[in-house]
Amino acid sequence: PLGILLVAVIAYFCGCFNGAVIVSKYILRDDVRNHGSGNAGLTNFYRTFGGPLTLVVILCDVLKAVVAVLLGSWLLGTAAGANGYAASAQISAMWALFGEYWAAVLCLLGHMFPCMFHFKGGKGILSGGTIVWMIDWRIGLVVWAGFLILFLLTKYVSLGSVWAGASFPFATWYFYPDPVIVILAFILGGLVLWKHRGNIARLIHGNENKFSIHRKKDK
Ligand code: G3P
Repeated sequence: PLGILLVAVIAYFCGCFNGAVIVSKYILRDDVRNHGSGNAGLTNFYRTFGGPLTLVVILCDVLKAVVAVLLGSWLLGTAAGANGYAASAQISAMWALFGEYWAAVLCLLGHMFPCMFHFKGGKGILSGGTIVWMIDWRIGLVVWAGFLILFLLTKYVSLGSVWAGASFPFATWYFYPDPVIVILAFILGGLVLWKHRGNIARLIHGNENKFSIHRKKDK
């Protein structure tokens, strides 16, 4: 239980390092949340500012997800196994998988609701998109292939994101039909879809932002 709590706290705080907020607020001195869609994510950062700092946003959101998931897997799987808390290598592997999903949910909660940035964060696509590859490349493929096809066909990032949020739990269910893992996957996918509820409404009404290489900084 202590390990589970420890992973939760560390993964949540990893998630709080929201690249779009940190770069816009502390380097550009112009909070991205005051522009465009108001979202603290890669899409809105690129839409608003663009430029090479976009790479820093990507690096931050990718790295924090990598750190959180590796830590979850290591602390609850490998380390617990090595210390005799897991009876067999198979149980240790199950705990490692649980650690990955648990850390993934907490990391995305931190990204979406960062306590040090007034709980106003992003929608979890870049961090979540990193996490899916780390969990299982087959799940990564299902999520990313659909995302890219929908995005490239329609130029709506959010349509691809909705696919990502919706397909992740079902892909998990298919590859890892363990109730606890599937519940965590549905929570993660549900969080992503909940964060995209405004985008979904705009998609339905036909007034969603299409991706463009031109900046839209509204000041
Ligand atoms: O990554 C978030 C994306 O799906 C939508 O972003 O800023 O258009 O709401 P945004």
